[in-house]
Amino acid sequence: MRYLNQTVKISFITAAGCLIAGSILAQATITVDAGKPGHAVPPTLWGIFFEDINLSADGGIYPELVRNRSFEDSDQPDYWKLSTATGSPGTMSVDSSRPFNALNRHSLRINADGPFTLENEGYWGMNLVKGDTYNFRTAVRVAEGFDGPLTVRVVGSTGNELAKGILSGLSRDWQYHSLALTATASDPRARLLFSASGKGTLFLDMISLMPQTSWKNHGLRVDLAEALDALHPSFMRFPGGNWVEGDDLAHMYHWKTTIGPIDARAPLWNTWGYNTTQGLGFHEYLQLCEDLGAEPVFCINTGLSLHDSVPLGQMGQWIQDALDAIEYANGPTNTVWGGLRAQNGHPAPFHLKYMEIGNENGGPDYVQRWPSLVNAIRAKYPDVQLIANTDLRNRPYPRHPEPDIVDEHYYESPESFMRRAEQYDTYSRRGPKIFVGEYAVTQKAGQGNLRAAVGEAAFMTGMERNSDVVMMASYAPLFVNVNHRAWNPDLISFDSSRWYGSPSYYVQQMFSGNRGDVTLPIIVDSGDVIEQPAAGCIGVGTWNTQAEFKDLKVTAPDGQVLFTSEFSRNIDGWRFLGGGNWTVQDGALRQTAQKENVRALAGDRSWTNYTLELKARKLGGREGFLILFHIQNDEDRVWWNIGGWNDTQNAVELDETMDAKAGHIETNRWYDIKVEVRGISIKCWLDGELIHEILKPRQATHRLYASATRDGQTGDVILKVVNAAHTPVNTEIKLLGVPHLTGAGQSIVLTSDSPWDENSLDEPAKVSPKAGTFHFTGGDLRRAYPGDSITVLRIGTK
Ligand code: AHR
Repeated sequence: MRYLNQTVKISFITAAGCLIAGSILAQATITVDAGKPGHAVPPTLWGIFFEDINLSADGGIYPELVRNRSFEDSDQPDYWKLSTATGSPGTMSVDSSRPFNALNRHSLRINADGPFTLENEGYWGMNLVKGDTYNFRTAVRVAEGFDGPLTVRVVGSTGNELAKGILSGLSRDWQYHSLALTATASDPRARLLFSASGKGTLFLDMISLMPQTSWKNHGLRVDLAEALDALHPSFMRFPGGNWVEGDDLAHMYHWKTTIGPIDARAPLWNTWGYNTTQGLGFHEYLQLCEDLGAEPVFCINTGLSLHDSVPLGQMGQWIQDALDAIEYANGPTNTVWGGLRAQNGHPAPFHLKYMEIGNENGGPDYVQRWPSLVNAIRAKYPDVQLIANTDLRNRPYPRHPEPDIVDEHYYESPESFMRRAEQYDTYSRRGPKIFVGEYAVTQKAGQGNLRAAVGEAAFMTGMERNSDVVMMASYAPLFVNVNHRAWNPDLISFDSSRWYGSPSYYVQQMFSGNRGDVTLPIIVDSGDVIEQPAAGCIGVGTWNTQAEFKDLKVTAPDGQVLFTSEFSRNIDGWRFLGGGNWTVQDGALRQTAQKENVRALAGDRSWTNYTLELKARKLGGREGFLILFHIQNDEDRVWWNIGGWNDTQNAVELDETMDAKAGHIETNRWYDIKVEVRGISIKCWLDGELIHEILKPRQATHRLYASATRDGQTGDVILKVVNAAHTPVNTEIKLLGVPHLTGAGQSIVLTSDSPWDENSLDEPAKVSPKAGTFHFTGGDLRRAYPGDSITVLRIGTK
């Protein structure tokens, strides 16, 4: 594809996204030649990446309502509360004297001395739906005269009873007891209660409450699985991500400990900050792929964790695990692992065709392990496509032997993704195919806004046009429980009963639902390119640090004072972002909250040439100060980060560009700071010493990004157009080589009032696609694309 007319026009955009200066030429031409079809669009192109992150599995799609059901989370009864009639606490503890089994070493011990109630609220409330039945099961043993019975109740948020059952006949040996509980009313914040009034000792383990209804009867939460299904994914990469690697050797993902009966799976600490039951195990992931009609892409650990590695000479087990995983997925039922698959309910093979060797490992450790794993797999399973994960920090992927596919990951700003729309135009067609296994706009993205979706969509048009080399792509991460946002942003946010998709979710859906079979050549002429202005207001901030700032002054090159702050008099003109705790003490502006990304902004967004001078002092915490400049909107990360990266570096960060130098900040010492900006030139001094002298790279983006395909079955020409400008663009679409246009078509448009608009649990469809139809005569189709929009047009042919 070609982009034409690349002169520069600068536009200034306010925080609200409105144009305040500059000029926009809102005319464009898109030419599609349907008479010269290009390569086939690979059926694998748009898929999903499921990582157990943000409580995606436990607390998410794996619908166990009880949290810490097996008491393996820690040596305390986390998430359980005991109350007694007398109010005396301390009669429960985690016990390991007589484990339920070798993997389930801990149980809950209750020393009962009269009436007590034990309570669990699950993952911020259990969702009970009136008329639905829930399977309750627990393992129990009793001692020292306690013989029950145990009353099991589920109560609503006001204490109202929703379901009840009695467990009796308790034994001195571990024994499971089950109940089917039907809810008499709905409540998304229900709790599970056990009560009894005996004396003696009671042990409980594997306490489970699960909805009887699950997606396709395969045990997963219906609404969340449907949310995935609605994306029409052609593949699913799983189960990570960093989760595959684990924090250290003891916490790496081993698929073999995640299959079979749930009480015999090994719970594991997840690097994203919680304990994992493995209820969503290897088998369930494969089953989910099958139910979604998605090719499974299993990412296996290569003996490398996030912090340490298995010695090279001890890789035998890891190689065997990879071979056995393929046998489990594909092998006949008379093989060891194929037989286990059948025993676990799936005699037919799962047809695993893709295996990824490690996640984001890179470097010599990875390159050394690659040949032994790949050679062993290829010798036994030559048809399985092997994926190498490239490390974009200049550590190339292993080439001996050559991977079939290389996985690249991108987390950047919207504009950076727009620029990447052309990167695959020049990729080698002779090397491995490309899998963009993780990508998302993470800068200026809020918790998933329209602007982020626009950036990703622009990139996706480039992947689609180049889908002869890019054969797979998946956004990351997929899910977040809104109460445990370990990574932001995410595609699907949920709580116990609701979910919503971010604007990026709808972009994924619009692309995957309108793939087409062949690409069509396309030329886009959208006039002048847009360059982010080298201008903006100033600010100060902190990152997990307490600090204060004083004697702040902004001067023009001719010495004219543009802004000065006497904090002891007032803090007029300052705007505070990121929930800090700002006060004025002894003439200084002080920030004391222990939080990331806390900022205070002042000044004028049109400032281009100025010198910012101030004093700053660190009071405590892990880092130093953020000195902001060139700020156009609240999400910009354009700053001098002094004492960043746990107080090891000073770096000028200009979105994705960075100039870093080793550096450290002393606590309780005032520093003199000076930042001089002259358009794109930036100089920074610390205590009179020049630390950085850099030029902001020119970062131009087009207004329109587009791709075209044809649907062989319907004959539709499918045009995807992204307007990355903040204002509408009037476009003439010239369709060549289509003799029989019907003059009618269907459109789907995703846009909103502001590029910063997001969806939420309360407003799930604020930014959602709108479907429509259109008519035109002849071969010319004119259309205005709203600012910050993604449009799919299906143009009918006879
Ligand atoms: O998608 C979130 C994380 O980003 C993944 O775990 C990791 O692979 C990447 O760095």
